[in-house]
Parts: sequence; structure tokens; C-alpha cells
Amino acid sequence: MCGIVGACAQRDVAPLLIEGLRRLEYRGYDSAGIALIKRGSGALTRTRVAGRVLDLVAALQPDLPEGGVGIAHTRWATHGLPNDLNAHPHVVADEVALVHNGIIENHHALREELTEGGYQFTSETDSEVAAALIQRYHAAGEDLLSAVQRALKSFVGAYAFAVLSAREPERIVACRRGSPLVVGIGIGEHFVASDVTALLPVTRQFIFLEEGDVVALERERIAIYDADGRPVERPVRTSELAPDAVERGGYRHFMHKEIYEQPAAVAETLEGRCVGGRVLDAALGNGAAELLDRTERLHIVACGTSYHAGMVARYWSEHYAGLPCEVEVASEFRYRSHVVPPGTLLLVISQSGETADVLAALREARQLGYFAVLAICNVPESSLVREADLTLLTRAGPEIGVASTKAFTTQLTALLLVVAALARRCGRAQQEAELVAALLKIPAALERTLALEPQIAALAERFVDRQHALFLGRGVHYPVALEGALKLKEISYIHAEAYPAGELKHGPLALVDEQMPVVAVAPHDDLLDKLLSNLEEVRARGGQLYVFADGAAQLRAQGRYTVIPVPDAPAAISPLIHTVPLQLLAYHVAVLRGTDVDKPRNLAKSVTVE
Ligand code: F6R
Repeated sequence: MCGIVGACAQRDVAPLLIEGLRRLEYRGYDSAGIALIKRGSGALTRTRVAGRVLDLVAALQPDLPEGGVGIAHTRWATHGLPNDLNAHPHVVADEVALVHNGIIENHHALREELTEGGYQFTSETDSEVAAALIQRYHAAGEDLLSAVQRALKSFVGAYAFAVLSAREPERIVACRRGSPLVVGIGIGEHFVASDVTALLPVTRQFIFLEEGDVVALERERIAIYDADGRPVERPVRTSELAPDAVERGGYRHFMHKEIYEQPAAVAETLEGRCVGGRVLDAALGNGAAELLDRTERLHIVACGTSYHAGMVARYWSEHYAGLPCEVEVASEFRYRSHVVPPGTLLLVISQSGETADVLAALREARQLGYFAVLAICNVPESSLVREADLTLLTRAGPEIGVASTKAFTTQLTALLLVVAALARRCGRAQQEAELVAALLKIPAALERTLALEPQIAALAERFVDRQHALFLGRGVHYPVALEGALKLKEISYIHAEAYPAGELKHGPLALVDEQMPVVAVAPHDDLLDKLLSNLEEVRARGGQLYVFADGAAQLRAQGRYTVIPVPDAPAAISPLIHTVPLQLLAYHVAVLRGTDVDKPRNLAKSVTVE
């Protein structure tokens, strides 16, 4: 989703703003822009283009513009097409420049009001509404800070802004409500960005703004005000992320690197959390033991890949802990009536911890009678972590590829830890010990699975000119099939659907012919025989079968039936092991099709709008 970077420094800031944008590219965007205040004249310059940061750099040639104060932006279109005019920064009256993340929900009414007052809009965006309103107050005599504070009172929605004024050439005013924003502290220079990764080359010291905060930044000064306009102090934290944490290393794509990081990421997620066959309650934070003791059932809420992790956890919760569990996508959860039985723990899963639907669901849930909220999240400083009662952090490190890979397998690891801790409380200590033993085997099993890559890369060639694909699984491997289909569709743009294999004959079988590749997840479990019968239904209709099966399943390839052997692993961790080959398949198909693997069209990494 959109990215903001801003800087106030002695030196020219354009190169570091461009580098910041480059580091935010992973969030997904379709246009980019920059505004700077020229030293001496105080004039505002602005350049913006539909396209990539590289296109912006080309538009800025032969030399990057000078200026020690500037803001820059990558836009992911929500209101208006991804074209030059809708790109940020928006400049009003050659005086005020603004970049914006998020959505101003009441922009129609404000647009009408501003138009009646004589303002002529040049874009279709809600962001220009904000720029125009701030400039109106500024032109009427208010300084930039008060103009922003006053304008904020009119906005409904979720947003983060950074604003410049040619009349106050030394400062940036920025604010956040609903969209993340951090302040970076350098020596004699200050920065602002929507994500720490943008600023890692220039600082490791950060202030994470709270909801409603407004900050006025100058080279030597930072003043923060809360939502009521009172001056406040916020703690300075040191990021432990290395500046190269977001580099690709020797890999061609971030997604490829992140697939390979999974054994280490899972090992990190387990580190220090299990001792002597038990999960340490303290891994979930202070007071975890008491809240887990009270848990009689789980409700899980998440989106996309994180939702698939939740679906796997439902099977685990009921099978291993004997605890009832329901799972729902966050965007639906918000808009229906709920019956929350006593003793229900809400478990919220999000890689970024900034997904608007997830945060809104959590806030909604606060009114509904859940006794506590447990977050599984990959970003320690995120809004989700701040708002939950308990947190279990996945330690996957920054995930840059838009398609989630290591976030998913570390979420599954964290969820299995939670289920193991709950199993003990349900009188199943033996079960807990078995789950812990299985958990510790994941990193090595994932390493073995990655060794399948050459075989899967060859298989990808058979998918490259297909329009559609079906993915099948049963039981706990049905969500794995869903995740495989999601990966394929989002990065290769091949239409892929996943079904519980038993559903095939209730409709989707009509799609099966010689042109339809059907991918099946077939581990050796209680449902294998059932699954094999379903696969026969496909074979009888000429479908091309690609079956991912562990050795114990003892499947043999023949004719249009290709078997890809997956390493054997304990049943509890089989969903993780069977996910990796599907990630690799999607990756290689996308590479062969020449898509933008790390930044697939129309998608954003962190979905901070509803
Ligand atoms: C798919 C993908 C998305 C995210 C979803 C939720 O590869 O990455 O489906 O899983 O947008 O994001 P988080 O987990 O950050 O809440």
C-alpha cells in the first residue's frame, strides 16, 4: 500500500528519499512522486509519474533536484486511476505539498464544500481534498501545524499525511490515524516514513507515533502533539533490523529469498519458547498463563494468507486440544451480528499488524464480550501488537515479496505453539509433548523440502500456458490447497481455485478436461484413500494430475498422473511441509510467465485501507 518518506536535513535529501521509496516498493504501488523545498528561494518543486520509482528517477534527470526538506510517495490507487495527475505529492497554490496514505471517507462532502468555495480540483483523489483544506486554513493565516490540526478535525477515515509549506521551508508536519507512521532520528536531521525499512540506511532510532499524533519536524527539533493537541513525549526505540535486512542477497526475487529463509525463520520463531516438551506460557507475554487457563474456545480472524493459517489452526485446535474453534475473514467479521460464548479467546493473525480490516475487527470485537485478544504478528511495533492483550510474535524478519511465504509458515508454527499450550490445559499433556517434538523437526524438514526445487521448476513449464488450475486437498490440507491456489493466482495471474476434494463432484468436476491441470495435496493421512478416489474422478475425465505426496503415501506416477514426492514428516507439521512445494511452483510459473513476482499487479503488501 502507499508509502511515505520525508526528511529535514542539512544535506540534499532527494537521494535518500528516492532510496526510501525504493525500500517501500514492496508495499505495492502504481505511481511515485517527490516534492522538495529549494534552499534560498524557498520554492516548491514537485515531480510525479505513473509507474515505478525508476521512472520517477528518469523524470528527475539529468540531476536530482536540490533541497534539504522534502517528502516523497508511492501511491497505490484507491480514488482515481493510477495516472500522473492523481499521483502524489499534491500541491496547492504552489504553496502546500501533501502526501497521503489511507482513505478520507467523507471526501465527497469536503470536495463539494471546497469547490463551492472556489477551489478547482486537478485530480480525482481524496488526498487533494486534504491538501486543499490545509492550504485554505494556512492561507487564512494559520501556521502549518495549526492548519493541519484544524483540518484533521474534518476528516473521517484512516490516514497518514506528511505536509510541506513553502512559507515554512524548514519543516514537515506529519500525522497518523489508522495508517502507520514513524519518525526517524538522525544526527542534526529528522525523517518520517510509513515503515522503518525506508529509513534504515539513515537511522536506527525511531519514534512510533500513536493514533491521532501530529508531529512537527525540523532539522534540530521534533515536537509531537496528541489527538487533543497537547504536547507529548513518545519513547525512542532502537530498531534491531540490519540495513541489509531488506536486500535480496544473491536471489533474483525477494519471494525466492523468503521461501529459502523459512527453515531459519521457523527456528527463530521456536527459539526459547519450548522447554522439556512444554511450551513456555511466558512466550505469549505477561498474564498469558491466566488467560490461556480461561480459554474454552477460539475465534480466529484474519485476511488472505493469514486467514488460511487460521483455517489450519481450526483443525489443530479441535484435533489436538479438543477446543472448539471458528475462523472468519476479518472483512466479514465486522459486518454481522455475533454470539460470543463465555470463555472465548479472540485470536487475530496478521503478518503486518496494520491490515485495516483486521484492526477494525479487533476494535469491533472489544464490544462483543471476548475476554481477551491474542495477536500473532510479525511486526513488533505494529498497531495490532499495541492493541492486543497478548502477542506471540513470529520472527520471520521483514517480508518484502507481496506474496506471503515465510509469514505463513511462521504463523503456522506460532499457532501450533498456542494449540500445544492449550492442549495441556485440556488435560492432554502427552499431546503437548508430541506437538513440541514435531515442532522442533520443522526446520530440518523444510530444508529437505526445498531440495525439491529443480523438479518443481521443471514442472512449472507445464503450467506456463494454462489459463486455469484446480487445487485439491482434504482436512487440514484443504487450507494448504487454498494457499497454493492463492499463490499461483496472485503472482502468475493464472486463475486458480481450491476445493476440498470431496466437493469436486458437486460442481467443479464440470471444469475438468485435458486442458485443466489439477494439483492435489496428498499426504499419508486418514483421508488419503478418500482423496485418491476423488483423484480417480479427475483422471477418468482426462484431467492432468500433479500430486504432492509424502513417501508413506506410496503413490506411483503413470500417464497423466505425476507424483512429486514430498519428504516424510510428523502429521502435525505436514501442512507446513506441503506448503513449500506449492510456493515454489507458483514462483517458477510466475518467473516463466515474466510477471513482476515481488510486486504483482493491483496488489499491495500492507492493506491499510478497508
Ligand atoms: C497473500 C497475502 C495477503 C495477506 C493479507 C493479510 O500472499 O500476502 O493475502 O496475507 O493481505 O495481510 P496481513 O497478514 O499483513 O494482515
